[in-house]
Amino acid sequence: MPTIRPLYTEAQIAHRIKELGAQIRKDHGDAPITFIGVLKGSFMFLADLVRAVDGDATIEFLGVASYHGGTHSSGVVQITQDLRSSIEGRHCVLVEDIVDTGLTMDYLLRMLEVRGPKSLRVASLLDKPENREVEVRVDYAGFTIPNEFVVGYGLDLGELYRNLPFIGVYQP
Ligand code: IMP
Ligand code: MG
Repeated sequence: MPTIRPLYTEAQIAHRIKELGAQIRKDHGDAPITFIGVLKGSFMFLADLVRAVDGDATIEFLGVASYHGGTHSSGVVQITQDLRSSIEGRHCVLVEDIVDTGLTMDYLLRMLEVRGPKSLRVASLLDKPENREVEVRVDYAGFTIPNEFVVGYGLDLGELYRNLPFIGVYQP
C-alpha cells in the first residue's frame, strides 16, 4: 500500500502563499499583473496565490504535458492548451506547481518571451533544485525540497492525489 508522508500542512502552505503574494505585489508596484497558470498542477496554488495579491490581476492558463503518468520527466514538453489572450506589453507571472529538471519552465519561458511581455517572472510553489538539467530562474519559490516525489495540493501521480489539501512525499 502506498503511503503519503506529510511534508507541508495546509496552514504552512497558506502562510507561505500570503508572503509570496505580498512580495509579488510589492515588486510590481500598482501595475496590473497577468498570472499564467500551468495546467493542471498549478490550479490550486494559482487559486490561492491570486487571492493573496492585491490590485488588478488577470488569469490565463497554459496546458502542458511533460510526464506520462510516471515519476520521471520525459523531457518532452507538449502544449495541450495555449493562452487565449495576448501578453504583449503586460507584466506576467508564470505560475507552476514545481520546478524539477527545469525543462518545462525553460521551454515555456522561451515560448512566452518572444510574445513581448513587459516582464515575465516565475512563481513556483515547490523547487527541487537537485534534479536540475537546465538552469532556470525561479523568482518566487514557495518551498525548496529534496529530490523526492511529492503529491497533493494540485500535484499528481498518474492524475491521483491532486485533491489532497496538503503536500506529502509519495512512498510506494
Ligand atoms: P520539469 O520539467 O522536470 O521541471 O518538471 C516539471 C513538471 O513535472 C511539473 O510541473 C510537475 O507537473 C511534474 N513534476 C516534477 N516533479 C514532481 C513531483 O515531485 N510530483 C509531481 N509532479 C512533479
Ligand atoms: Mg506541472
